[in-house]
Amino acid sequence: MAATTLLPPGRAGQLVAELGDRARLCDLYGPHGAPIYHDMSLRDTGEVRHLVGLVRPHPGPVLDLAAGSGRITLPLLALGREVTALDLSADMLALLRQQLDRAPAHLRERCTVVQADMADFRLPRRYAVIVLGTTSISLLDRAGRAGLYRCVAEHLADGGRFFLTTLDRGADSPEEEVEITATGASGTAYRLYEHWPAGADVRTITVLPSELPDGPVPVCTGHVRVLPPDRLAAELTQAGFTVQQRRTPLEDAGRHRVTLIEAEIQR
Ligand SMILES: C[S@@+](CC[C@H](N)C(=O)[O-])C[C@H]1O[C@@H](n2cnc3c(N)ncnc32)[C@H](O)[C@@H]1O
Repeated sequence: MAATTLLPPGRAGQLVAELGDRARLCDLYGPHGAPIYHDMSLRDTGEVRHLVGLVRPHPGPVLDLAAGSGRITLPLLALGREVTALDLSADMLALLRQQLDRAPAHLRERCTVVQADMADFRLPRRYAVIVLGTTSISLLDRAGRAGLYRCVAEHLADGGRFFLTTLDRGADSPEEEVEITATGASGTAYRLYEHWPAGADVRTITVLPSELPDGPVPVCTGHVRVLPPDRLAAELTQAGFTVQQRRTPLEDAGRHRVTLIEAEIQR
């Protein structure tokens, strides 16, 4: 269920064709993609402060699903909570462990790192809050989402909250494909292509270095589903949750409309 490495469509695909043998197609969260994703994510704190603000009033342990290299995990630890960080990718979790190694002991000691599928996990405790940020629910297919809802329901403490974000298209962006340049925390510049024809229920993200090296060029690609908030809310309700929706305006709200959903399990 992680991002796949099919040939990207659009200009990114043309570029791959031009690169020929030099193009190394790779998964966004695999051994080549993970350090690039991490480098870019360090500069993009997007929804983190919204999520952390929502967690604050609910004391108790927190489960950070699809935690990756810890963009949300570390601020949650800084709130003083016990945090379990769960992710499928060993490469992303290795980057999280590096960050924890550099963090003060009082943060590091409150973090449990788990490699598991968010659609099928079993942990030995229940949580006051479960967070699934960065619109990562879009990485799961319908069966995966059903598994996720079941696991979240099983792991939420009584009165606990499930916070998740999802992304659909802002009204003012008709382009089929956009290309942006983003600079990572290391100073490396990347080209990011998002191919998303209007109405399509999958968008393709492709990232490669802006300055192409002479030799092999890593081309990281991920195909992610588009899950409108109404559909997600309906799925959650059917899975036994009570749902409240909040629209959360983020900085780049033009093309990407991110909705934060808060859900509570009915027992
Ligand atoms: C968009 S990244 C978000 C990472 C982190 N939360 C952040 O904000 O930077 C998505 C993460 O989901 C993970 N992932 C993909 N499929 C997964 C699954 N089935 N179970 C758990 N994690 C998964 C990937 O390895 C990746 O780290």
